[in-house]
Amino acid sequence: MCGIVGYTGNKECRDILINSLRKLEYRGYDSAGIAVIENDRIKTVKAKGKINDGLVKKLEEEGHLSAVTGIGHTRWATHGEPSDINSHPIGNGRVTIVHNGIIENYRKIKTFLTEKGYVFESETDTESVAKLLDYYYTGNPIEAISKAVTDIEGAYALGIIFRDYPDMIYAVRKDSPLIVGIGEGEMFIASDMTALLEYTKHYYLLEAGEIASISKSGALFCDLHGNKIKKEVQTATWDVSEAEKGGFEHFMLKEIHEQPDAVRKTISPRIKDGLPCFDECGLTDDMLRNYKHIFIIACGSAMHAGMVGKYIIESLARTPVIVDIASEFRYRNPLLCDKDLVVIISQSGETADTKAALELANEVGADTLAFVNVVGSSIAREAKMVMFTYAGPEISVASTKAFMVQNALMYLLAFRVAYARETIDENECRRLVSVLETVPDKIGECLKDLDPYKKAASKLMGADSLLYIGRGLDYALSMEGSLKLKEISYIHSESYAAGELKHGTISLIHNGMPVIAVTTQSELLPKTVSNMREVKSRGAYVVDVCPDGIKIDSDCADFIITIPSAEDLIMPLIAVVPLQLIAYYSAVLRGNDVDKPRNLAKSVTVE
Ligand code: F6R
Repeated sequence: MCGIVGYTGNKECRDILINSLRKLEYRGYDSAGIAVIENDRIKTVKAKGKINDGLVKKLEEEGHLSAVTGIGHTRWATHGEPSDINSHPIGNGRVTIVHNGIIENYRKIKTFLTEKGYVFESETDTESVAKLLDYYYTGNPIEAISKAVTDIEGAYALGIIFRDYPDMIYAVRKDSPLIVGIGEGEMFIASDMTALLEYTKHYYLLEAGEIASISKSGALFCDLHGNKIKKEVQTATWDVSEAEKGGFEHFMLKEIHEQPDAVRKTISPRIKDGLPCFDECGLTDDMLRNYKHIFIIACGSAMHAGMVGKYIIESLARTPVIVDIASEFRYRNPLLCDKDLVVIISQSGETADTKAALELANEVGADTLAFVNVVGSSIAREAKMVMFTYAGPEISVASTKAFMVQNALMYLLAFRVAYARETIDENECRRLVSVLETVPDKIGECLKDLDPYKKAASKLMGADSLLYIGRGLDYALSMEGSLKLKEISYIHSESYAAGELKHGTISLIHNGMPVIAVTTQSELLPKTVSNMREVKSRGAYVVDVCPDGIKIDSDCADFIITIPSAEDLIMPLIAVVPLQLIAYYSAVLRGNDVDKPRNLAKSVTVE
């Protein structure tokens, strides 16, 4: 959470900082601010609210800024409410910082510094670091930074400017990401590469415990003892246009439309001679045969991809799979051993709970395999094996294309586990792969006519609560549909295994309450249809998502969304599209900020 940027070069930095911050706004948008060095003074402008609502207006009032070095921040509040005073940058004249992360021992530092005469203004944990840097600063920035980060506990990526060094930016990190962008005669820092794509594709990855001293001509790196470190230049594969809306009204809609391509890009390189291939990460059939248990650990939508994975791996490979929410897994003393495989799923690769679960699995000695979208992210670096999802940058806070490709990789894994364990033969494995290869076109078909989704969304407008129901794979999918709807439309919704309704939840059904049923699993169809009839006869307004060719009686559903049919096993990859679009149009109709829903941030780097 929180995005940080920095620029030093020959150009005026104000607009570059704002432009880069806009690209990171998905990381948090409670407030934003910049600090620049101008006429030997650090000047800070910051405001509550989104960049355009607060910061840009304040900057207009400030007038022209000629500074060529500065740092910027967009905040997801953790300590202290969203307000001007709690916004970053935070400093005190000699040193000013932007921070992403949480300082756990900030109270102790604050008490210490208060005794030394420092007066605190904000409620943030960050202010304790800014003042600690000032306390240790005697003219040598590296020394002050080394001493300060030795005292602090917690997660941090810090961008730091010192008044005495007007052409320099300093950076240090632990557990929160930070990169140093390399331009021509200019250098940058950023929480992730999407902020910099417009300016450069080349960057250094700052590792934990490394300090970067950055001037317009380059960056020097050292450890906390001042020992020099040589770093390799990395090159981003993402394109600047991928981080733009490209004519769509929202990133979410654009990203939904990018799904066919994202699936193709993710699966094609992993299919060799018609079979799924995991050579790139070193996962062999021998290993897959011998794992005692398979765990899948993730949060939110990524966890739902894990739920789909559980159903397909168990059904094809007849091997048990345990899916866990990362925040639960890490604290429940899991029955995990060095003969297990732990699959970690994360779009950002920075989710704090997921990362902690990965570290736990690594400690136990289990094999860890990460499905990650962001190259160079912490999870990608810490997992023993990594497979990247090739979704490109996902900017909308609500995950769509990343969820899609997490699933696509999960299918390839399921096919390979089953093949390795000989529960399917080579022909069947090839056949399943070819079925998977039809998915991009089927998603494309779902996107041809968006009217049914708009209509379905309009039926939800009056509701303050609704249910998603399904059985088997449809149940896994209804969890995702329900999460997507509530996070962006703010309509309360729950997902239920359709057969479970009558054990309590059905009492919620009242006249006109919407129920969204997913009926893609032919074997379970008669059962789910009965459940739909049960809720409809009690007054529910039933919307059904159903494959082409299946007839649903009018006493079971009020509104039917027909999607292309395919083999039951792969239907989640198709049926999720209407669920994403129903959520999308519900949020649009309600006038919500679709890409930046309230209280949320894209990358959840706090517990
Ligand atoms: C929902 C959503 C979140 C993320 C979750 C995990 O639309 O995007 O539920 O799936 O926060 O994030 P990653 O995948 O970055 O670990």
